[in-house]
Amino acid sequence: MVDENRRETLKIFIGATAALGIGALTTPLVGSLINVNELKAKTAYGSIEVVLCESVDNCPEEYSVPIDELRKGPKFVLLKKGTMAIPAVFGLVNVGGKEYPVAYNTVCTHFGCPVNPSGGKYLIGFSCPCHGSQFIICTNPNGCDGHAFLEAYVSAGPAPRSLRPIKVAVKGDRVYALRAEI
Ligand code: FES
Repeated sequence: MVDENRRETLKIFIGATAALGIGALTTPLVGSLINVNELKAKTAYGSIEVVLCESVDNCPEEYSVPIDELRKGPKFVLLKKGTMAIPAVFGLVNVGGKEYPVAYNTVCTHFGCPVNPSGGKYLIGFSCPCHGSQFIICTNPNGCDGHAFLEAYVSAGPAPRSLRPIKVAVKGDRVYALRAEI
């Protein structure tokens, strides 16, 4: 299942990367490729926020992963919304014995290759197979050198900025993705 998702994602990456590359030059074209009603606002990173669910109470299960599954290791999920498909990795970050559910858009911020999670059972970061960028998840509640708590920031390689975050919320025994940056 995961492999199938990865193959599908690879195809989407090629399209998405091309679309975003064009979009950076011609904003109106982005509007015709992406349904603007699904977009919320530009974020501080210059990325765009896609609202998957307004609230965890009306969020479909396809945007969620059982916490128990995340205790075995990070899980890849393709978040589909309208014509978009956002590749995401859900995981748990262990900070002093406390588990924090997280999710990130797995498109590398360099040239868009899919990044791989690292850390085994608990997520500690990501690496990009294309040009060697490394991303580390900040586990200091007070921040890490200008980066926010749980931000997956660049520790090595050419990537210009942190991985785009996905806002999550827990309901019952599942972790739901509410908003994703693309
Ligand atoms: S695309 Fe990830 S380091 Fe270049």
